Amino acid sequence: MAENPSTELRIKLRRLTGLQPSGQLHIGNYFGALKPFVDEYKNYDSFLFIPDYHALTSLRDPMALRANIVSAVKDYIAVGVDPSGLTLYKQSDIPEHTELAWILDCLVTVPFLMQGHAYKDKVAKGLEPNAGLLTYPMLMAADILLYDTAIVPVGEDQRQHVEYAREAAAKFNTTYGQTFKEPKESILDTLGVVPGVDGQKMSKSYGNTIPLFGTKDEITKAVMSIVTDSSGDKPKHVYAIHKLFKTEAELTELYEANKGKYKALKEALIEDIETFVAPMRERRTSITEDEVKRVLREGGEKAKAIASVKMAGVRKKVGVTL
Ligand code: ADP
Ligand code: TRP
Repeated sequence: MAENPSTELRIKLRRLTGLQPSGQLHIGNYFGALKPFVDEYKNYDSFLFIPDYHALTSLRDPMALRANIVSAVKDYIAVGVDPSGLTLYKQSDIPEHTELAWILDCLVTVPFLMQGHAYKDKVAKGLEPNAGLLTYPMLMAADILLYDTAIVPVGEDQRQHVEYAREAAAKFNTTYGQTFKEPKESILDTLGVVPGVDGQKMSKSYGNTIPLFGTKDEITKAVMSIVTDSSGDKPKHVYAIHKLFKTEAELTELYEANKGKYKALKEALIEDIETFVAPMRERRTSITEDEVKRVLREGGEKAKAIASVKMAGVRKKVGVTL
């Protein structure tokens, strides 16, 4: 029996996002970004890509970049992204991204780009920004606009970049005639901030993470290092992380039965993380590099088909097609 025809015919909104390939994921990335993505991506015409050219603004180690790209694709599949249910690709496979970025660069001013957070932060730290960091928002705008994206799910820190994409679209449309759809950001829920082992936001830059695909030993080491307060029966930070893996009712019982026994509670948390992570870790180990390449090739072909048509129109509009 076919599904309800009205569901089949419903046109899905196009939703696109990119995640920088930056190495080992932690459970904060999982609950804050990957899980929400996995839960929702089938409700949309979803595009997920690896912004590897963006990564070049800060990474100059070819081996590391290559490893990070492969690792990112394995991560997505392991956490439940089915490559046949969306368009999954990498930016550098579609030269139209950098081509459109150039055209957009020629439409915006340097002072406008100098307001960009990535650029401003670097300057504020007294560091010398490369030109890629200045034009970063126009490459991101190209990533989004090439596919007539309706919605861009991102963290709060990327809100400004989606605004830049809207402004770039508007500038192009005013100059050359209606061409690009103006995208909207969808800001990921910040209430869901996962604390690290020291109680601050879990972040690789704070060195306070529990690795998502770590071995049991690595997970044990991280959990055992969770800071516990000396007062009270319930170790606050242990509980806050535990809540991600068990219901409040289950936890109430466990924490009542183990009042003040911090070690036992941490051991219970290790077991719960392990039960949760082990199947994903196993799935990840089974993914070969060939599979990663095949997934990216197939996704790249789907993306390319759309991007090339869009760019053919853009080239005509700006006057370079004879
Ligand atoms: P990190 O802070 O470790 O460098 P990133 O900035 O690379 O993490 O974040 C990648 C994604 O994971 C973002 O969408 C971000 O919102 C999410 N994320 C990162 N850390 C957390 C956290 N502690 N809690 C919830 N979400 C998080
Ligand atoms: N700049 C984003 C980040 O650092 C990554 C990114 C690049 C992106 N292009 C994008 C996100 C397009 C959404 C849409 O997280």
